[in-house]
Amino acid sequence: MASQRGKRKLEVPHAPPRKPRILRAACGCLAADQFALLCKYFLEWAEVKAVITRAARKFVKATDIPNTVPVYTDEYEWFIWKRLGEPVLHIDLANWAEILVISPLSAETLSEIVAGFSDNLLTCIDSIVRAWDYSKPMFVATSMNTLMWKNPFSEWHCIAIDDLGINLVPPPSGQHNAAEMADPPLIYSTVRLSYDSKMKKGQGAV
Ligand SMILES: Cc1cc2nc3c(=O)[nH]c(=O)nc-3n(C[C@H](O)[C@H](O)[C@H](O)COP(=O)(O)O)c2cc1C
Repeated sequence: MASQRGKRKLEVPHAPPRKPRILRAACGCLAADQFALLCKYFLEWAEVKAVITRAARKFVKATDIPNTVPVYTDEYEWFIWKRLGEPVLHIDLANWAEILVISPLSAETLSEIVAGFSDNLLTCIDSIVRAWDYSKPMFVATSMNTLMWKNPFSEWHCIAIDDLGINLVPPPSGQHNAAEMADPPLIYSTVRLSYDSKMKKGQGAV
């Protein structure tokens, strides 16, 4: 009996895989009304925190966002930080997140990303992007009317973010309506497929 007991393998329960940490951000675009829906998609698979710009607050209905998702705005930055040595929100969020998903991304924030702006008073997102570790994935889904999208600046800026390694989920082609953004299920599946394929290749979470 004693020897059988000795042979018994010690059962070590596998820890459930940790959920990826996703930082969702929204800019002031008409398509920001889909922000809450996309948060819900990601919540089924990931831990989610959210950042919305000042302009995005006009479009995002805070009560639609699940209450398990903390939502940060510019004001939090200064509310949390009072003196040297205290946490700096945009740095903490950039470090916390494994993946940054900005959808919708406005023409303005797109150009600020390309220019490397990090004006905290303007938007929290720019600071996070400026503090971003580009070995971690970032996805953006633009939302602009056709005239803005076809403007040469948009093309130049999209080339520039591609050079930075930022993944663009483009607007649906052939659309001529205002404020087109890729559909939320497409944005979700693009991020998820990319993450899952990295995990399969053994690159793991960052
Ligand atoms: C009703 C309304 C709708 C807008 N929709 C868009 C849009 O779809 N895409 C865009 O790039 N800008 C849009 N804008 C302009 C942005 O809100 C504006 O450039 C803002 O400063 C963007 O700031 P943010 O990038 O910090 O959120 C819209 C403005 C208004 C008033």
